Amino acid sequence: MAFTLVEHPLIQHKLSILRKIDTETNKFRALTREITNLLTYEATRDLSLDPISITGWAGSVNCQKLTGKKVAVVPILRAGIGMMQGVLDLIPSARVNVVGLYRNEETLTPVEYYKKFNPDIEVRTAIIADPMLATGHSMGACCVMLKNKGCSKIKALCIVAAPEGVRYMANHHPDVQIFAAALDEKLNEDGYILPGLGDAGDRLFGTK
Ligand code: URA
Repeated sequence: MAFTLVEHPLIQHKLSILRKIDTETNKFRALTREITNLLTYEATRDLSLDPISITGWAGSVNCQKLTGKKVAVVPILRAGIGMMQGVLDLIPSARVNVVGLYRNEETLTPVEYYKKFNPDIEVRTAIIADPMLATGHSMGACCVMLKNKGCSKIKALCIVAAPEGVRYMANHHPDVQIFAAALDEKLNEDGYILPGLGDAGDRLFGTK
């Protein structure tokens, strides 16, 4: 299965602060960004490199640089915006491609209401950012949108994953590599992850 739990001590320490009910909005946002930095580091281990020769202080040096057209970060609105800068901190040249999905309360399926992709998205590695992998339906829908655009290399970052979401992605998008800071117990009847973080959008943006 293409699921990686990133159990780095720094991530686990930051996550324990993130989980606290009384962690304030600005701290929550900063920690989300820092954890995303660490997830991005892990998720980009396989980016390809080209040899280059540069002029250093003592003459020419053989170095390496990232190959060609590189990365697009794809935040899923709205909570994914909280992770976006965490990817851009490490990959400043990444393009930002945004996806907006809402849940149809009758069918419980995600409905697309916004998307903006690079014209060359198919040659980039797409890194989806969504803090909570709950049912997996939104992430799955985002993968379908990217694949319809010809994207063949898709990774996804989340802070907390539920087993239900991981299973859904393994069944529907086994080719997508997921990197998470935590694999929690389950979803409650309202689709929230337990123990989770609560509503990640509200906690990131202070809307509650
Ligand atoms: N979205 C959230 O913000 N939190 C959850 O626990 C699940 C989905």
